[in-house]
Amino acid sequence: MITREEAWKLLTEYNKEEFHIQHALTVEGAMRYFAIKLGYEEESDFWANVGLLHDLDFEMYPEEHCSKTQEIMRECGIDERLIRAVASHGYGLCSKPQPKPEHQMEKVLFAVDELTGLIGAAARMRPSKSVMDMEISSIKKKFKDKKFAAGCSRDVIKQGAESLGWELDKLFEETILAMRSCEEDINNKMVVYKESK
Ligand SMILES: [Fe+2]
Repeated sequence: MITREEAWKLLTEYNKEEFHIQHALTVEGAMRYFAIKLGYEEESDFWANVGLLHDLDFEMYPEEHCSKTQEIMRECGIDERLIRAVASHGYGLCSKPQPKPEHQMEKVLFAVDELTGLIGAAARMRPSKSVMDMEISSIKKKFKDKKFAAGCSRDVIKQGAESLGWELDKLFEETILAMRSCEEDINNKMVVYKESK
């Protein structure tokens, strides 16, 4: 299995924009939280790597999102389970058909990818710039306000919750908790990343 160090090297080879690095780290942290929460602790490094690399191709190849990733990853000898998981977050959303999320890990990735974007955008509007003091009610409001973070598809988030068999409120609450679990770590990692550029 690819190590975290190798995954980071690969990510930063194809992603330079801070926004994309931050998003990759956020989904990595969220996936680790959900692995532990849902009883897959021994696989939490794997879930985290899936999160870190899920948008690998998006910055350089947005038109080939989720297809180009598979090419790049196969060239690097990355295991097919990780490739499939990453590709499945583009199910119904990319220019070429992608596999349907089947494993719980894939369903979580599909659901939290968009939602972490929405919650992150809401956090940046707060004086604290943080999710630590964010209430679920404020996310519910932002979710209903279609003009807010319009790029974060509400339909994809709903579809994600449905495939997990969760109420939207449960997905909101758990994703806020997931983002709290890694916020400080990500802030520290972003400082190091910016200094390294
Ligand atoms: Fe993403």
